[in-house]
Amino acid sequence: MRCTEKLIWALSLLASPSLSHSHIDAADVSPTNANHIFNAIHSALRHWESGIKHNGVSFFLASVPNGTQFYHGTGSSQPINGIEWLAFVPEHALGFAHRSEWRRPHNERKRSVTFQESQHPLASIVDGQDHTDGTIDGASDLAGHGYLHIYAAAKDLRLLYVDGMSAGPRGSMQSQDRILFNDTIGHPKPGPKPPIGGPPREQERAIEACRMVKEVWGERIDGLVRTEQGFEIILCEFSRDLDVVHISQTKPQDKTNSDDEKKYKSQRKAQNKADTDGEGSHKQDHKSKPGGHRGSRGPQGDCCSLAARHNQLIGHKVRLDFDEFVTAYTYDLDLFPNNASQPVLEHIPTEQVEPIRRDINHMINTMEPSAYAFDWQAVADMIVTRYSDELDVLAKGHFASATLLRERLEKLLEPFLDYSDFNASDAVVDRCQNEFITHTAPVGTLGGSVVRSVSRRVCSTLVSGLFDRMDLDKTVVSFGELVSFLGWATLESK
Ligand SMILES: *[C@@H]1O[C@H](CO)[C@@H](O)[C@H](O)[C@H]1NC(C)=O
Ligand SMILES: *[C@@H]1O[C@H](CO)[C@@H](O)[C@H](O)[C@H]1NC(C)=O
Ligand SMILES: *[C@@H]1O[C@H](CO)[C@@H](O)[C@H](O)[C@H]1NC(C)=O
Ligand SMILES: *[C@@H]1O[C@H](CO)[C@@H](O)[C@H](O)[C@H]1NC(C)=O
Repeated sequence: MRCTEKLIWALSLLASPSLSHSHIDAADVSPTNANHIFNAIHSALRHWESGIKHNGVSFFLASVPNGTQFYHGTGSSQPINGIEWLAFVPEHALGFAHRSEWRRPHNERKRSVTFQESQHPLASIVDGQDHTDGTIDGASDLAGHGYLHIYAAAKDLRLLYVDGMSAGPRGSMQSQDRILFNDTIGHPKPGPKPPIGGPPREQERAIEACRMVKEVWGERIDGLVRTEQGFEIILCEFSRDLDVVHISQTKPQDKTNSDDEKKYKSQRKAQNKADTDGEGSHKQDHKSKPGGHRGSRGPQGDCCSLAARHNQLIGHKVRLDFDEFVTAYTYDLDLFPNNASQPVLEHIPTEQVEPIRRDINHMINTMEPSAYAFDWQAVADMIVTRYSDELDVLAKGHFASATLLRERLEKLLEPFLDYSDFNASDAVVDRCQNEFITHTAPVGTLGGSVVRSVSRRVCSTLVSGLFDRMDLDKTVVSFGELVSFLGWATLESK
């Protein structure tokens, strides 16, 4: 974030505690794209939401506590050295262990022993260069099974989280390739490279990320966190940063009946399709309705099942800094050309992206990922949970009269109304806005400004609906506009 913007927000927020009516608009001057940044905070490290907001353009510092367990699936029983992928849940890694077995073909002895088929993100398949007969684990056991490696972080890990479906499927590599890797992916550097899993472009990304960790960021971070079927980490120094908990031999798979294989093939098919649409799926999204991509090819999981809950808790293995982070939304870029439903970067000249690169480097090189960062995501969550269904009803407008609508609003806002001073709408908006924002919450930070601003927008629309004596149609339209401005995943999926 740029200092000038920060200053403006800080000033506008300082002005907010004692608002007179004429100040409301000034305090309301919200960061550009506050709605999108709010949604980035709300979706971070959440699979279902990330599937809906699949084109991420934000970068957060992340920390993972010492001792946290992670998984890696491979054809080798030897602990990994150097760069590789880590999964948050064992099922994710098991797929790779199983695949290492059924993908070990006839020609394995011809392969270099330094190459191993091992866990790599499905997004890899985005590149359309699946290496079914490419990287084969020459060093692996020939008995026909893979290995599940269980590791524990040997220290507090410091990472950079790339949001959205940043490793696919159906996501977009744009924020990595254009911003982080400065348009270098697809032009591999000549010379020897580390023996890591994954198709060529994913190898390039991992190698480039770890080069930057060393050369640009002075090892102030240990790798990247990305999202695909599950969450994953590109970790640059396995043997330094992880302790081996256990390495298990996995159940031999029957190639022809392997569920993994079927699942993998259908994912690959979907991914190849996405690939021909361009990297990422934003092109077709121009035409599709919000949330319309959630068909059979949509993100796995849902909002409310036990599996989804589990998925959310997985995210808690990682703490993000929501106060200060870098997002393309604050750089005055045209991220939604032709009314794109998701942000796109491909049309933006590289010079315009350069300040974002600079700020990411600055963030990593000057800030410490904190395990105690203020949890603006929890606040965003409360706001969405409290108002999402209600706003949906209000925007649909099935009310017999404006009076009935106002009765509903009065009930909703009752906790903030003081019946001895009923018409004090500014005070009502203040109390509503701050219901979930403690007075000790950080002021003037990116996360703080965005969450306060969106919270205020919701509350002032509700209060206006109650007090401003608009007719029914006009009131309903104001809620329709609010819902479309907010673009909450919960509302888009309805
Ligand atoms: C991480 O935890 C292990 C096990 O409790 C401990 O031995 C080690 O010293 C810790 N490392 C750091 C850097 O705190
Ligand atoms: C990105 O690449 C351009 C052109 O190669 C270079 O001038 C610029 O310094 C690079 N940016 C960063 C942050 O490394
Ligand atoms: C974008 O959407 C707005 C409102 O729906 C519409 O008025 C405008 O013509 C659209 N622009 C383009 C380029 O499609
Ligand atoms: C609030 O304002 C309305 C219209 O101005 C007025 O009719 C009503 O009596 C006021 N209510 C209270 C409790 O002051």
